[in-house]
Amino acid sequence: MIEGLSLRKANLDDTRLVYNWRFSSRAILNSWSQTIPEYAEHESYFLKNIGCYSIIMLNDKSVGFVRDMDGDISIVVDMFYRGRGIGSEVLKLYSGIATIRYGNLNSFYCFLKSGWKPVGWVMKK
Ligand SMILES: CC(C)(COP(=O)(O)OP(=O)(O)OC[C@H]1O[C@@H](n2cnc3c(N)ncnc32)[C@H](O)[C@@H]1OP(=O)(O)O)[C@@H](O)C(=O)NCCC(=O)NCCS
Repeated sequence: MIEGLSLRKANLDDTRLVYNWRFSSRAILNSWSQTIPEYAEHESYFLKNIGCYSIIMLNDKSVGFVRDMDGDISIVVDMFYRGRGIGSEVLKLYSGIATIRYGNLNSFYCFLKSGWKPVGWVMKK
């Protein structure tokens, strides 16, 4: 386990953070849906589904999120914190299904490293 790494439940103060992570240029390129919603649309979606979101903490800093929608898993790590093993460490705690956009090698290897198995480009655990 990476020292200082933990998860907490998301709250309404995370709305903007999650929007920025989810729809940053790099994250959107890796996403199935390539459209960026208006912030208000994100706000109402996030409010409705807030129970599915956990925020990844490194000490007292929020560095990403995991969304678990009945076992449909997605993850974003803040771009300044990538490549340090955070994503793969967090994904060890989850199982289910994750649909990875074709060619998203960072994500593919991240899931693989955490014990997920590829079924084509779908990962299962
Ligand atoms: C995918 C993502 C969550 C990975 O998070 P991360 O914390 O950087 O991942 P890790 O540091 O645990 O890396 C895991 C493995 O992925 C690969 N990897 C990660 N970042 C990489 C990079 N920049 N270049 C090459 N390989 C990389 C490596 O094989 C790494 O294993 P290694 O450390 O043994 O070499 C992060 O890149 C991200 O948020 N991407 C944008 C959103 C996204 O694509 N989410 C996935 C959709 S479900």
